[in-house]
Amino acid sequence: MVQLTDQKPETELLIADVLKSLRKSPKELPCKLLYDERGSELYNDICEMPEYYQARTETRIMLDNAAEIARLIGTNCLLIEYGSGSSDKTRVLLDTLEDTAAYVPIDISKEHLLAAAKDINRDYPGLEVLPVCGDYNNHIDLPTPSKEVARRVVYFPGSTIGNFDPGPAVEFLQRVAELCGPGDGLLIGVDLKKDVEVLELAYDDPAGITADFNLNILRHLNNDIGSDFELDAFRHRAVYNEDEGRIEMHLISEVDQEVTIDGVVISFAEGENIWTESSYKYSPEGFARLASKAGFTVKHVWTDEKNLFSVQYLTR
Ligand code: AVI
Repeated sequence: MVQLTDQKPETELLIADVLKSLRKSPKELPCKLLYDERGSELYNDICEMPEYYQARTETRIMLDNAAEIARLIGTNCLLIEYGSGSSDKTRVLLDTLEDTAAYVPIDISKEHLLAAAKDINRDYPGLEVLPVCGDYNNHIDLPTPSKEVARRVVYFPGSTIGNFDPGPAVEFLQRVAELCGPGDGLLIGVDLKKDVEVLELAYDDPAGITADFNLNILRHLNNDIGSDFELDAFRHRAVYNEDEGRIEMHLISEVDQEVTIDGVVISFAEGENIWTESSYKYSPEGFARLASKAGFTVKHVWTDEKNLFSVQYLTR
């Protein structure tokens, strides 16, 4: 039996957040809104694409180094996963860690979270699974496990840290640091800088899966807050901004149009864009500098042979 703690934000807050973002210039939408149930499924599809090297490279790094990672983390840890999605990546850790005190998957998509938590509960019978539905951009109250905890370890795979601008990335890491006492850890996936062509193909695949994922943010809003976005009237664009070291995803309005959200009319000119996501790419040194601003020290960095991706263990 899996007990859900629901800390999902209210619809009114969501509407306020969306309107605030669309009143900016250029217009924006918070990238967390990419992940409703369909968005989470599409992201899983992205992770299977040949162009999206991140997912398979991270898995390979985890598989190749699982024993060493487990040794650094130690026994009886409380494993807290931010943005757990399908929890698939966590299995490598759960298979290798000894006597995990409990597993706390945290995700904004309740259906996905519950399904994943039930699967983990079935496949790891002795493990206490305590899912929390919530937004890890806000404060999260952790449930209390029944076993004694030696150390809290936050697992944040997938290079989701790249989806934060540098200032909010430090604030996020500071919130993680607040959860952690001295000696507690953060195991994090960090995507590395590389050739522009490789990067842009990973975010603009020929099959159009990333385009569907990006456009789904509008479908999500139509379903959740009753907006009337015409998905066909926008197109996907992904570009690497070399100066900022980030991939930017945009939705470009194909025509002059108006969209109504909670009675408020928002106008779009033809060619105007909504910035839906940034995905920052780091050098190992650059990420160590960022993490140190939040009080974290990098203990170990594992990479693949082509230096495409890294998994890093940090402690406070
Ligand atoms: C979840 N996050 C790390 C992905 C990324 O690569 O920034 C989201 C994504 N956006 C487009 N493709 C995948």
